[in-house]
Amino acid sequence: MEVDALQSHFSLLFFSFSISLVVVAVLVELLRTRPWWCNCAVCKAYVTSSWSAEFDNLCDWYAHLLRESPTRTITVHVLGCTVTANPDNVEHMLKTRFENYPKGKPFASILGDLLGRGIFNVDGEHWRFQRKMASAELGSAAVRVFASQIVAEEVGFRLLPLLDMACKNDAVLDLQDVFRRLAFDSICKISFGLDPGCLQLSLPMSEFAAAFDKATRLLAGRATHTIPAIWKVKRLFNRGSEGQIREAIELVDLLAKEVVHQRRKYGFASDQDLLSRFMRCIDNDRYLRDIVISFVLAGRDTVASALTSFFMLLSRYPAVCSAIRDEVEDIVGNAPALASYDQLRELHYLHAALYESMRLYPPVQFDSKFCLDDDVLPDGTFVRKGTRMTYHAYAMGRMEELWGSDYAEFRPERWIRHGQFVPESPFKYPVFHGGLRVCLGKEMALMEMKSVVALVIRDFDVDVLGGNRPPKFAPGLTATLSGGLAVRARRRTGSAAPHGTS
Ligand code: HEM
Repeated sequence: MEVDALQSHFSLLFFSFSISLVVVAVLVELLRTRPWWCNCAVCKAYVTSSWSAEFDNLCDWYAHLLRESPTRTITVHVLGCTVTANPDNVEHMLKTRFENYPKGKPFASILGDLLGRGIFNVDGEHWRFQRKMASAELGSAAVRVFASQIVAEEVGFRLLPLLDMACKNDAVLDLQDVFRRLAFDSICKISFGLDPGCLQLSLPMSEFAAAFDKATRLLAGRATHTIPAIWKVKRLFNRGSEGQIREAIELVDLLAKEVVHQRRKYGFASDQDLLSRFMRCIDNDRYLRDIVISFVLAGRDTVASALTSFFMLLSRYPAVCSAIRDEVEDIVGNAPALASYDQLRELHYLHAALYESMRLYPPVQFDSKFCLDDDVLPDGTFVRKGTRMTYHAYAMGRMEELWGSDYAEFRPERWIRHGQFVPESPFKYPVFHGGLRVCLGKEMALMEMKSVVALVIRDFDVDVLGGNRPPKFAPGLTATLSGGLAVRARRRTGSAAPHGTS
């Protein structure tokens, strides 16, 4: 009896000792990797949000800090994050030492619940396989024609009639919301041959889109925690925002599964959409779901964000709007038919204006990788293994040494030489990323944006309500205007009524 009591006493002691050891080990690891007690001015301002007294947006504060830094690189110790706006460093992390800066496990765990093994969330073999397939598909002439037909239909049969209706009713539209619906419809049709019909405003935004929005917005919040263990514990117990994330992802999963199921049921052998093409060589439905989700994420919010900022800037720069109209009239003319792919390619000034707008308002404001082994950046900054390494595209578009003293001006001419658009190095302008993981949808995105802009401004004047207030961004993976972009559209005299209206 006494021996039993001694044994259970000893087991209890041993158990408590083990638990204490684990707790101490976790604390030591947390102290070693996350010095959230850091007292430096930057960390204090981040933790207390005192930066917001002076700046409208976190990205404006970062741009200020990076402009002040002699190397154009700063470290936010409480986030374990080094942030750079130096093109040499960007080239180093995205190209020269690509293998040392993977997405890494921390990124995979932040977005993994939604993205699974989709291209945005993986490194190594999974990434190489999807990259190869996606670049073959997105680069093929057949997919380009297929995509441009879908966009043309979406603009001609939905967007223009919608604007026409708003004109007739003198209604105020949230242009950001309209572009999100347009981009969602287009990417769903291109990616899996499904039309969610979001632009028919009589219908509520589809449940899939709403759940998708919620999941991406809340997942982005995970990356802002100074102590990641907090969201991980909340996830374990399904509490607060983590409970909402789970609910939203369950809905996304349900619908994504249904999409794959429908495609199998009705056949995919000869269909043009990306999912059908992937299904011809992948049998695993979970993997197909992950691939589909990544495409929706890639192609929807980015395009909507770029178009929204573009119209915001256009309303402030009427001379740029007139110059685009002249070019569109020269090349596309007044025909009610939509611009062809070749005509869109000839719109150099519009191309430049879109690049210029994304310089000031990149849809992906910053992008992070994780440093695998200790490294030294070209500017001399030491980067410890495990550090989150971020390049800040928003700040880079606001650097005097990169763009000149008029960097704050919206001036498409800076991209034009002898009447032709001339691109910059992707490491100076990493809006579409650069190096080995450069965006695969750039051409498709530009085609879509040009189709929208050319036809909208040819037929309508779009007045942004609320004047020249500086934009405020909502938290999320992609730049989103908090409160949207309220506009009133007026039909221009002499423009033809769009399809579907009288
Ligand atoms: C204005 C629109 C767009 C912008 C600014 C943009 C920007 C970017 C950026 C910054 C990345 C790197 C993300 C990262 O690795 O963390 C990226 C990757 C990617 N983008 Fe885009 N994107 C746009 C539109 C599109 C569209 C329409 C598609 C396709 C339908 C697309 C497909 C992809 C894919 C597949 C990748 C992953 C490449 C890889 O990891 O190898 N993008 N894009």
